[in-house]
Amino acid sequence: MINRYTVIGQPIAHSLSPVVHQLFGELTQRRIHYTRTEASPETFAQTVIDWQRSGAQGCNVTAPFKELAVEVCERLSPNARRAGSVNTIHMHRDGKRVGHNTDGLGLVADIVVNQRRPLESKRVLLLGAGGAARGVMAPLLAKQPALLHVANRTASKAEQLASLFEDLGPVSGGGFEQLDGEPVFDVIINATTVSMNGGMPPLPDGIASHHSLAYDMTYGRQDTPFMSWSKSCGATACNGLGMLVEQAAESFLIWEGVRPKTRMAFPRLRELLS
Ligand code: ATR
Repeated sequence: MINRYTVIGQPIAHSLSPVVHQLFGELTQRRIHYTRTEASPETFAQTVIDWQRSGAQGCNVTAPFKELAVEVCERLSPNARRAGSVNTIHMHRDGKRVGHNTDGLGLVADIVVNQRRPLESKRVLLLGAGGAARGVMAPLLAKQPALLHVANRTASKAEQLASLFEDLGPVSGGGFEQLDGEPVFDVIINATTVSMNGGMPPLPDGIASHHSLAYDMTYGRQDTPFMSWSKSCGATACNGLGMLVEQAAESFLIWEGVRPKTRMAFPRLRELLS
């Protein structure tokens, strides 16, 4: 039997998820078939239900449907409930659609394991307060940083997001202008959508230095302006390719019961991206 999966989004044509999961299938010797599915906000829920009725085992959900996916699921993992968004749906044997969010685990795995940057007792800055930022808050705080500070164009949204998670650790929020005069951060994560439009948040140079890691959650062939800025401050910069691969590995683990050795997938993916 071939287990079937898909990624649902809009647009979806450029998603790398099918390539990543097919590669995981080869690496773990699992017979899987993984496709892309386009939906609209009006058709999303029915698309998931139809996919389940066709006998498929699960699906990934990407922009702009991660919040809508919460409503489609009959059970939620603690991570998905906290994040208020679902990126992985498991069609359980008992017939229920179970929602998970593996984005934060993927980000943390990439930072801690692949980039070898422990987060414990570190100063971490998260840029943005939308769905992508919210999805990674709990897994970041689980690593016990000294501080997780959220900075956003709309300061009130950063403050609200911080207050939603204050039971999990030392977290604060504010506007970009409040970063002036802040000491250096060990890790700076860009979870705004501004890289997609070729821009970057207004950041003071003093917050990044040669020992900082600057992490852009988007990925592409070229450095984003945020990555270029951080390199000009002497920091190490990386894009979100590793997060894509690691969140996919967490999804694969939920569906197939085995976590692929992601290290083996990177050379092939870099080749495909170049
Ligand atoms: P996602 O689900 O990808 O997080 P989102 O929920 O629309 O998308 O959130 C987009 C984030 O990018 C927000 O933090 C937004 O800031 P605001 O809350 O002030 O809107 C941020 N963002 C978008 N465009 C931006 C820009 N030009 N400069 C700075 N931040 C920007």
